Amino acid sequence: MDATISHASSLHGTLSLPADKAMCHRAALVCAIAKGSTELRPWATAEDCQRTLDVLQGLGVRVSRLQDGVRIEGAGLLGLRAPAAPLECGESGTTMRLSCGLLAAQPFTSTLNASGSLRQRPMKRIIEPLSQMGARIEGRLQNGEISPPLTIAGKRPLKAITYRMPVASAQVKSAVLLAGLFADGPTTVVEPSPTRDHTERLLSHLGAAVRRREGAITVEPLRRDLAAPSALRLPGDPSSAAFFIVAATVVPDSKVILRDVGLNPTRAHVLDILRRMGAAVQRPAGGDGWEPRGMLTVESARLRGTTVTAEEVPLVIDELPVLMVAACAAEGETRFEGLQELQVKETDRLHSMTTGLQAMGAQLMISPHAGLVIRGGGLRGAVVDSFGDHRTAMSLAVAGLMADGETRIRGAECVRKSLGDFFELLASLRS
Ligand code: S3P
Repeated sequence: MDATISHASSLHGTLSLPADKAMCHRAALVCAIAKGSTELRPWATAEDCQRTLDVLQGLGVRVSRLQDGVRIEGAGLLGLRAPAAPLECGESGTTMRLSCGLLAAQPFTSTLNASGSLRQRPMKRIIEPLSQMGARIEGRLQNGEISPPLTIAGKRPLKAITYRMPVASAQVKSAVLLAGLFADGPTTVVEPSPTRDHTERLLSHLGAAVRRREGAITVEPLRRDLAAPSALRLPGDPSSAAFFIVAATVVPDSKVILRDVGLNPTRAHVLDILRRMGAAVQRPAGGDGWEPRGMLTVESARLRGTTVTAEEVPLVIDELPVLMVAACAAEGETRFEGLQELQVKETDRLHSMTTGLQAMGAQLMISPHAGLVIRGGGLRGAVVDSFGDHRTAMSLAVAGLMADGETRIRGAECVRKSLGDFFELLASLRS
């Protein structure tokens, strides 16, 4: 499917976004090993989250659809069943990597299948720590990496380890922490720099013993079942919100309100970066509890360039493509450092974004060590490619709003992966 985006003169409206994709995956997986039923509301429309439900059903967990959410009948700590067939993760990396953490501790062998881009994504990063813990995981060897499908022979109990992650990855951290629930002692993950902490927060919220010290997270093995919380309300997806925040910022005379967005500090850093670029985003102060959330009000603003450091990258890993679009609207230069992890997403997003933005007339330069410098200036409409990547498609659509003329995005159907209604929501803001 091609999507055509024309220049916008203003954007106005109020949106409620589907539930945070990252939290939906975690809530479903953790509630599946709790005892009792949990209603998760609202639920993400993201195709990826459906894949996690599919995997859980394959493991014997009862999942039912509610009008505005899903119900998970927790099987208890020891209640997952050997699957009758391979478990299909589709293109969802989070489904595959986090499920692997649980499957590493099961007394059976299971296979996780992938399709599309996920067949090429690196899995050594989870195989290494989970193998150290005693699971046997085999995949497809390709150019020195291991890719899906993965076959996992689990072990229980697993061996408790302290794992120093070579890359800052919330998916790897989560897989090891989930496996740690079934280990023979406390399991610690040391992060090179902070990453999203939804898994730790959720496990604590449900009563698991999780300790956090400067850069290290320790989980104690579960001695008894976690009690299902009966209901969890999930906030709107901050990564989806970022497209509308940048859109309302770069299109003049705009005002957009986003209701109930997740504002966990490990996800909301995009707001800090946009603020230092000059964006006008009002957000509620503080906000504690299990997961902070609140309403955002965004008005158009003139942006200036900034530097996004390598340390900040994990905190905005999914927002980097749309931050590149903000950089195109900013006065002066914006520098992005250490973008290597961006190159192993659904596609190489450094390549997909620079190819699209260059076709639209952006002035940019890829620097050594996966750095990028963008000099702000106008954009012009062009025919661009999503490279099959949802965040590239949505970011280039935002670029299309500020470009002269029309922008055509090829392969735009991939937005289904995280936000199937993206183009309709964007159209609803045009006045
Ligand atoms: C995710 C973590 C990030 C992110 C992905 C979702 C998660 O991946 O890019 O979209 O839910 O934990 P990495 O942790 O591998 O960087």
